[in-house]
Amino acid sequence: MEEALQALKVEASSDLAAIAGANDLEPFRIKYFGRKSPFALLMRQLGDAPKEDRPRLGQLANELKNDLQLLFDDKKASLAHGAGEASDIDLTLPGRMQPQGKLHPVTQIMEEICEIFEGLGFTVAEGPDIETDFYNFEALNIPAHHPARDMHDTFYVDDSILLRTHTSPMQARVMETKEPPLRVIAPGKVYRCDSDITHTPMFHQVEGFLVDSNVSFADLKGVLSVFIAKMFDESTPIRFRPSFFPFTEPSAEVDIGCVMCNSKGCRVCKQTGWLEILGAGMIDPEVFKKVDYDPEVYSGFAFGLGVERIAMLKYGINDIRLYYENDLRFLRQF
Ligand code: DAH
Repeated sequence: MEEALQALKVEASSDLAAIAGANDLEPFRIKYFGRKSPFALLMRQLGDAPKEDRPRLGQLANELKNDLQLLFDDKKASLAHGAGEASDIDLTLPGRMQPQGKLHPVTQIMEEICEIFEGLGFTVAEGPDIETDFYNFEALNIPAHHPARDMHDTFYVDDSILLRTHTSPMQARVMETKEPPLRVIAPGKVYRCDSDITHTPMFHQVEGFLVDSNVSFADLKGVLSVFIAKMFDESTPIRFRPSFFPFTEPSAEVDIGCVMCNSKGCRVCKQTGWLEILGAGMIDPEVFKKVDYDPEVYSGFAFGLGVERIAMLKYGINDIRLYYENDLRFLRQF
C-alpha cells in the first residue's frame, strides 16, 4: 500500500505539472479529490491492512492528500493571477515611446525674434486680434478712403471693427497708455484676405518701436543691423531702400543679401541678389499727435516684420502654406 501511495504521488504531481489552463483544473480535482479518487479507494482498503500498520499508513495518505491540495491551490492561484501576463502581455517587447510635442517653427522664430529685441532692452506687449478701425488705420495716419487701405485686403467684422491687418496698431495702443521713453516689441497674428504660395489669410508679424527724445534714423539702422546679424549672420549684407508708409516719414524697406544664393541672383530673389525682410521708418508726427505726444519733444522709429517670411528664408522653404497644413512629417523637422 505504501508503494501505491508513492506511485499516486508521482502520477498526481506530473498530472498537475501538465495543467496549462484553468479548464484542466476541474477534471484534476475530480480525479484526485473526488469520491471515486484513488485516495478514496486506498482509504477504503486501509481497513484490510495489518492493524499495527494502519495509523502510519493513514497518516501517510493524509499527508499526501494535504500536500497535493496545497499544490493544487497554488496552481489554481497562479493560473488565475498569471492569465493576463502570460497570454496578453509580452514583457520582452520594447516600450511605447510617448511622443513629445514641440513648438511650431513659426512660434520658434517669433520667440527668437523677441529674445533678440529683449536683449536690446525692448519689452513685449500684446494686443487684440479683433481691432477697431481707429487703431488699425486712423491712428496710423490712414484715414478713410486713403489709398493705403487698399493694400491691406481687410477682413471687416462691421463698419468699425476688423481683424487687424498688421501689428502696427500696437503703436497707438501702447503710446496712449504710457509716456516715453518706450522700447516695445509687439508680436502677434494678423489677417488679410489673401492666399497663394507666399500669402496665408492669417500670418504673424512683429512690430517694434522706440520713442524718446533725439531718436534718429541712425538709431533705427543700428538696432536693425544688430537684429539681422543675430537672426541671420554677422556677414549678411543689408540695405535700406526708400519707401512709403503713412505712419512713418521717412520710410524704408530693408533688404538683406539673398540667403539662398549668397547674393548671386536666383529664383527666390528674382535675380536681384536681395530679399526684402521688413518695413521701417521714423514715426510720423501725425501718429504722435493722435496719442497726445508732442512731436517737437519726442521722436522715434518703428519697424514691422513678417515672421513666416523670416522663417521661410531661414529654413529655405518656398511655400508658406507648408506652415499651416499641419503635416507632422514637415513640422517634425524643426
Ligand atoms: N505695418 C506694415 C505692414 O504690415 C509694416 C510696417 C512698415 C511697420 C513700416 C512699421 C513700419 O512699423 O515703420 O505692412
